[in-house]
Amino acid sequence: MGKYIIEGGYSLSGEIKVQGSKNAVLPLLAATVLNKGKTYLHNCPKIHDVDSMLNILASIGCIIKWEDDVLIIDSSVINTYIIPEKYVQMMRSSIILLGSVLGRLKNVKIGFPGGCSIGTRPIDLHLKALRQMNISIEDKYGYIECSTDKIIGNKVSLDYPSVGATENIMLTAVLSEGVTTINNAAKEPEIVELQEFLNKMGAKVKGAGTDTITIEGVNELDSVEYRIMPDRIVAGTYMCAAAITGGEILLKDVCKSHLNATITKSIEMGCIVKEFDNQLLIKVPEKLKSIDLLRTQPYPGFPTDMQAQLMSCLSIAHGTSIIAETIFESRYKHVAELVKMGADIITDGRIAVIKGVDKLNGAEVFAEDLRGGAALVLAGLNAEGTTIVNNAIHILRGYEKLENDLSLLGAKVKYSSD
Ligand code: UD1
Repeated sequence: MGKYIIEGGYSLSGEIKVQGSKNAVLPLLAATVLNKGKTYLHNCPKIHDVDSMLNILASIGCIIKWEDDVLIIDSSVINTYIIPEKYVQMMRSSIILLGSVLGRLKNVKIGFPGGCSIGTRPIDLHLKALRQMNISIEDKYGYIECSTDKIIGNKVSLDYPSVGATENIMLTAVLSEGVTTINNAAKEPEIVELQEFLNKMGAKVKGAGTDTITIEGVNELDSVEYRIMPDRIVAGTYMCAAAITGGEILLKDVCKSHLNATITKSIEMGCIVKEFDNQLLIKVPEKLKSIDLLRTQPYPGFPTDMQAQLMSCLSIAHGTSIIAETIFESRYKHVAELVKMGADIITDGRIAVIKGVDKLNGAEVFAEDLRGGAALVLAGLNAEGTTIVNNAIHILRGYEKLENDLSLLGAKVKYSSD
């Protein structure tokens, strides 16, 4: 399962380029199924979730190759509409293939996603919308089977601005008949990226980034070449690495407007953040300050994917902070591990109260999920002595070369596959 071994206590400094975005590339990879040609992707992160998605694409007929750093996907032949359950269990976000395979073949059979370490993650909103688009859905023996003779656009309203549901509806609608309008759509930058990518293939999508997205169906899509945007959560994680070690780092290749909520909270903690073009300097001149209330919210609110990393920083801040996790119901698995390292944190349901301590101590801890795992690595950078973060496999899902990046900035971090 792999582990990171960290000698804490080194202040980070230097500059680093931020990798391409995981949450942007996964729906784009799913969307490649919709064109009957080739997709050329630049800046694709080499992470486990991308490997998993590529394995699924290969299993349904896509031909995949890397030429230097360009990922090429040939989707001229898709030879099955069945996505086995094991893949969906391995990577829950493979559920976005529901929309793209359905869009291409008018049929899809996909394993039902079960619970996961951060919550139950249902897909009722996805299915409710698809039913309104002339798609019949059967849920049997652990599979969902969707089929139609014709996808017909409709007005759909989401009860909650779910990222995955918005993506699945967009993917289903691009090759439909008529116009689909999504009300109360998710506004995340990854949704805007999906719109840009689909439109570059010849789709007619507008409104992404607002509450209402409109998709006018087209008959077919073309080959496409595209560069993936930088990962706002990886950028935020490195901002926290500077914050928790009292360092000063320059992040290159960031989209700062995507980071507004994280920047605001970093400034509240006492960090100095300077923005230039696509670069961000973060400098931490003093002991971090607590935050009265950090509430996770859909974009442009504070991202749930940064909650754990901020919590590590707050665990050594001066004063008491409160976090309210409003998106996922059980996203505090990292708390018990931080407590092993000397943090003073209690949780009650969706609320966490963090009393800042002077320093953390190295310990052997276990990552339970991707971002919680990253938070433990951050804690290890601050801690006195050695920290071992086990189950690193969770972290490899989303971070391309965490130990290299942190080492370049002066941290003492090693990865071991044992
Ligand atoms: C995506 C991101 C994930 C991020 C999350 C919230 C990817 C691959 N993953 O996940 O990193 O943490 O957005 O920003 O992009 N819900 C329902 N019914 C549904 C769908 C969702 O109740 O049909 C609930 C979920 O249980 C959760 C909330 O809505 O409580 C948000 O989920 P959603 O926005 O769909 O997140 P994901 O797309 O799964």
